[in-house]
Amino acid sequence: MAINGETKTESTNEDIRPKNILASGALYHYILETSVYPREPEPMKELREITAKHPGSIITTTADEGQFLNMLMKLMNAKNMMEISVFTGYSLLAIALALPEDGKILAMDINRENYEMGLPILEKAGVAHKIDFREGLALPVLDQMIADVR
Ligand SMILES: C[S@@+](CC[C@H](N)C(=O)[O-])C[C@H]1O[C@@H](n2cnc3c(N)ncnc32)[C@H](O)[C@@H]1O
Repeated sequence: MAINGETKTESTNEDIRPKNILASGALYHYILETSVYPREPEPMKELREITAKHPGSIITTTADEGQFLNMLMKLMNAKNMMEISVFTGYSLLAIALALPEDGKILAMDINRENYEMGLPILEKAGVAHKIDFREGLALPVLDQMIADVR
């Protein structure tokens, strides 16, 4: 089977399909193994492994994207963040770990169950106090928050 112009073999290296500019699954896998996973904080590794067991795991943020987000938050000195689309919380954790102790992240998702799957890890990582999770469609949740301060 051809994926991105490559022939898919039985090799497990070919099983990770790049969702980014890298055209080679094998190269992407190599970068993950040699550069990304060794730098992944332990709670993120734990959450990634739990998320991988979810039937919808394909929609999760990847480890390289998570580290990129974490770096961006630090470069920006971000203190207040908003995330629309939490799923099990992998990108939420990447962001929350980069925020200062008094930083805050408003996190919205229509599905609380998936968020609660990752919540014990967010708590163990010591970042749960930074997170304000709201269940629901993001736009109505935001509209309500604006209405509440008027
Ligand atoms: C691509 S996943 C998010 C991945 C997540 N950021 C992560 O790191 O794993 C998309 C999520 O968007 C949520 N969603 C879809 N439509 C939404 C909406 N209108 N408001 C809030 N969440 C929504 C879904 O429930 C799903 O969990």
